[in-house]
Formats: sequence, C-alpha cells, structure tokens
Amino acid sequence: MLASQIERPPLIDPFRRQITYLRVSVTDRCDFRCVYCMAEDMNFLPKKELLSLEELDRLCAAFIERGVKKLRLTGGEPLVRRDLMSLIRSLSRHLASGTLEELTLTTNGSQLHRFARELADAGVRRINVSVDTLDPDKFKAITRRGDLEQVLRGIKVAQAAGIRIKINAVALKDINEDEIDAMITWAHGEGMDLTLIETMPLGDIDMDRTDQFLPLSLVRRRLAERWTLNPLPLRTGGPASYIEVAETGGRLGFITPLTHNFCESCNRVRVTCTGTLFMCLGQEDSVDLRTPLRSSESDASLHEAIERAIAHKPKGHDFVIERRGARPAVGRHMSVTGG
Ligand code: 5AD
Ligand code: SF4
Repeated sequence: MLASQIERPPLIDPFRRQITYLRVSVTDRCDFRCVYCMAEDMNFLPKKELLSLEELDRLCAAFIERGVKKLRLTGGEPLVRRDLMSLIRSLSRHLASGTLEELTLTTNGSQLHRFARELADAGVRRINVSVDTLDPDKFKAITRRGDLEQVLRGIKVAQAAGIRIKINAVALKDINEDEIDAMITWAHGEGMDLTLIETMPLGDIDMDRTDQFLPLSLVRRRLAERWTLNPLPLRTGGPASYIEVAETGGRLGFITPLTHNFCESCNRVRVTCTGTLFMCLGQEDSVDLRTPLRSSESDASLHEAIERAIAHKPKGHDFVIERRGARPAVGRHMSVTGG
C-alpha cells in the first residue's frame, strides 16, 4: 500500500480531548513592538531557523489529515512573512475539499488593506484583529510604531470583502481601562465581536508585568454597572468565555488565562515558527517537528513525532502572575509561539 493511502487515526490526548484546532506561528517578526509583547530592541530568529512556506504547508496538511478542522495562522505578524499569500492559497485546497472547516488569521491589521481581498478569495471568512485603543496617540504608544488609521482602514477593506472581524484588545491597567465602554460601542456598532484579553506572562519585555495587569473580573464587574451582560453558553474549546451585551446585541469575550481554568475543554495545540509543537500555551513541554520535516520527504516520522507529542499533552497550565512576580512563567515570547 502507498504511504498516502494509509488511514491515520485522529489525535486524541490522554485526557480524551480530541485535537481539532491548530495554531501555527508563521514568523516571529512583527512591524509593531507592543509593550506587553516585545522589548523595544528585539533579536529575531535567523531565516534558516524558520520553517519554509513549503514546510509549513506539509505540517498543516499532516494535522488536517489527523482531524484538525480549524487552522489559525499567527505570528509575530503573519502578514509580514514574505509571500504568505502563496501558503494561504495552497492551504485553501483543504477548505475546497471540505477536510478543513476554517482557515483564519490573527493579525495586527497593519497590512490588511493590502491583503484582505486576496484572503477572502482564498476562503478566509473570519479574522481576528488586535486593537487595544481607539486613541491614535495611545495606539502609537502601546504598539511603539503602529498607525491606528491604517489598521482601521484595513478592517474596513476586509469587511467590504465579506470577512467577519473580531477585535482582540489586551486590557491594560491605567492605559486603556477607561476606554472599554467606547471599544464595545465601536466594535459592536461595526458588527464586530470584541474579546478582552488579560496579559499573560510570556517572554521578557522591558517592563514589570504586574504594572500592566488588569484583572478582567474587575473589568466585568465595572461593565455590569453600565451594560446588561447576558452570559452565552458558547464554548470554543479555548480560553474565552462569552457574554451578550443586551444594549448592542454584540458579543463580548473574556480571555482570562490567569484567573480561570479552561483547560478541561482544551482542543488545541500550537506550533512555533521554528516547528516546535507546544501541547499547552502555559507549559514548556514541546516536541520538535522541524527535524522530521527536514530529515525526510515522507511524512512518516512527522506523524510519529506528532503522535508522541499528543500522548504527552498536559492536563492544564500553571500561570500565576502574583506568585511569579514580574518574571515570565514561560520564557518564549508570544510572537514566537503565536497568540
Ligand atoms: N499577554 C496577553 N496578550 C498578548 N498578546 C500578545 N502578547 C500578549 C501577552 N503577553 C495578544 C495580542 C493579540 C493576541 C494574539 O495576543 O495583542 O491580540
Ligand atoms: Fe506584534 Fe502582536 Fe506582538 Fe503587538 S502583540 S508586537 S502586533 S506580535
């Protein structure tokens, strides 16, 4: 029998969770330097360390063969990877065949005005865009170099192309906490979901994270004084919990990795831009997929490595910002692992 005819079983971890969601970081580079994510002066990885676009394509195909239904490309900033569109066009074959249900992207939006139409043509239906503030000066301060106007233009172009947008905003103490009502009004007014994210201790940055940390439990209590918040049963298998804001009819998500435990429903794994598979965002356990990708044109050893990894997916994570103080719980940056 040919290798391509072997039917490989779905990926089920020791806690009986099936892996149906893969996040892949396609680059550690970014045109922004968000204060909670990166240091001002970043050393990015040399090119040869990164998976090539062909390697990324093979890797994603292997996971899709094993039952991954939802694929999210992240970074760094995915749209700064040269020729990323050729990867996206190639991956869209799995959408066309029906084996993949969703191909999506998390982006800072800076290049969206250039690529949105092509993304829509390739079958991308939804995109997450990070916008932490609607004040252009604050936006520049948080991202250290971003242009809010350009991001907002990208969002418009994407919506015009028929792509649904979800806004991600990291909740930052003293920086954007007074803007959350305005963000809800804006996002929901433009037909976009909004998800608030608590800062996570990933990678060394230039400042003390305990200064930035704003618990979403507090944000939610404050919001409840002004808005009618109806809990939604929707669970995505990820860390977000959702409510509906009655006044806007829009959806508001909370990602609280530090104050909530969502691990029991976890259906996802992530791969870094260097081909390291992390079974859990909050743990160091990993399996190298780059070596098997590079050592053979056949995918047999790649599949073996993936199986070995899933057999070791841990039950849960251990993020506790208070106990660890300003030190990151996990040394790698979000831009390497993917958000
Ligand atoms: N903590 C929380 N969110 C972060 N992001 C990047 N770094 C961190 C961090 N340390 C966010 C980005 C984006 C999402 C993918 O992750 O702003 O919205
Ligand atoms: Fe870039 Fe996203 Fe990190 Fe900001 S949070 S520096 S946009 S990767």
